[in-house]
Amino acid sequence: MLDDKDRIFTNIYGRKDRSLAGAKSRGHWDGTADLIKKGRDWIVQEMKDSGLRGRGGAGFPTGLKWSFMPKESDGRPSYLVVNADESEPGTCKDREIMRHDPHTLIEGCLIASFAMNAHACYIYIRGEYIREKEALQNAIDAAYDDGLLGKNAAGSGWDFDLYLVHGAGAYICGEETALLESLEGKKGMPRMKPPFPAGAGLYGCPTTVNNVESIAVVPTILRRGASWFSSFGRENNKGTKLFAISGHVNNPCVVEEAMSITFEELIEKHCGGIRGGWDNLKAVVPGGSSVPCLPAKIMREEAIMDFDWLREQRSGLGTAAVIVMDQSVDMIKAIWRFSAFYKHESCGQCTPCREGTGWMMRVMDRLVKGEADPSEIDMLLDVTKQVEGHTICALGDAAAWPIQGLIRHFRHEIEDRIAQKRGGARPAVAAE
Ligand code: NAI
Ligand code: SF4
Repeated sequence: MLDDKDRIFTNIYGRKDRSLAGAKSRGHWDGTADLIKKGRDWIVQEMKDSGLRGRGGAGFPTGLKWSFMPKESDGRPSYLVVNADESEPGTCKDREIMRHDPHTLIEGCLIASFAMNAHACYIYIRGEYIREKEALQNAIDAAYDDGLLGKNAAGSGWDFDLYLVHGAGAYICGEETALLESLEGKKGMPRMKPPFPAGAGLYGCPTTVNNVESIAVVPTILRRGASWFSSFGRENNKGTKLFAISGHVNNPCVVEEAMSITFEELIEKHCGGIRGGWDNLKAVVPGGSSVPCLPAKIMREEAIMDFDWLREQRSGLGTAAVIVMDQSVDMIKAIWRFSAFYKHESCGQCTPCREGTGWMMRVMDRLVKGEADPSEIDMLLDVTKQVEGHTICALGDAAAWPIQGLIRHFRHEIEDRIAQKRGGARPAVAAE
């Protein structure tokens, strides 16, 4: 279990003073100018050496992403954009940072922007986060009043402005290019990639889009050193990580832990165990609604909570939103709920997603009621494969993967329901 002294987020539960004075007393904003004076190359190299992988869901190496930004300006300004549009069902970790530990993020914005030659940074916060927006804006105002932002920010010699922009409640605006469109005042619709934002991002200028947690951990990594951060977790899965655990555990919570902690330790140490005991565990969605569920038998066998182990199980760490489901859960209905969500949130721009999410949800609708023909299970699987990888953004994949996970691990429940509805024997259908 991670020691308290190794936790980056010292006020994640809001039990301490979240004012600027309180943040400073816990070590934030300590020697910020000195870190900046070490220079861009040093900062980017430390971030690479730390092994930090993006905390927004995709796990792309943060230092590498920063290195895509131009070192010298070609006349266009560079921007950092922080993705605070936390909307992935089950995910509520960035919310705690912005509510209770906002100065970790603000100091990170300054240092990261300097490293990428950006004098301006935009934090795009989801529309539903009203209190978080107020808390963060208050913290930004306090940082300006204290000279930590603005001209010669924190005495670093770097002029830096930080803007907080409130979204309007669309899930798709968490996709980085849709977010940029929305920031530019347009309808939030994803752009084709490439070009990636580092080449042409906000207003066509070099831009890096990073998740809140990815930026908030930067100052502590630089202060304590890349080797300290990379001492946690397994190869290629380094550092500490916020896990948001919900569902059928005794104490749902957000907790910072070492990457690669086992599922069992995470649940026992921080959540008081599974409701009704481990034999009552049925399934886990380990990384937010976009990743396939895994059955209890996989999650009980020393499951490791990191990018690579979960990918080997054909699931993912995603946003580390761990949704725990016990035996009371109707798995078909639970995944149907995700399908309804993705259908609702599709921006409609590309046909496989616009039509496919509706198709998938309608078949799922029939599966929930047991009213489908057994052949529709394979047909549904086929539709998910037509959507997966054939869309402009990852929302199409996100709609397909949970259904694939359901059929892979809980096909028997679907078949049983159809059989029950027909009042007959279980239908004979081919396995995947
Ligand atoms: P992605 O893998 O396409 O990109 C990840 C990041 O790396 C992006 O910033 C992208 O610009 C950059 N990148 C990737 N390849 C690059 C290259 N060759 N050159 C330059 N930059 C490159 O994934 P995406 O679509 O950004 O994110 C998908 C993930 O987002 C999903 O896995 C899901 O878990 C997560 N997600 C998180 C949500 C949340 O609330 N935090 C909401 C919805 C999805
Ligand atoms: Fe829009 Fe869906 Fe296409 Fe993404 S995959 S651009 S959400 S229609």
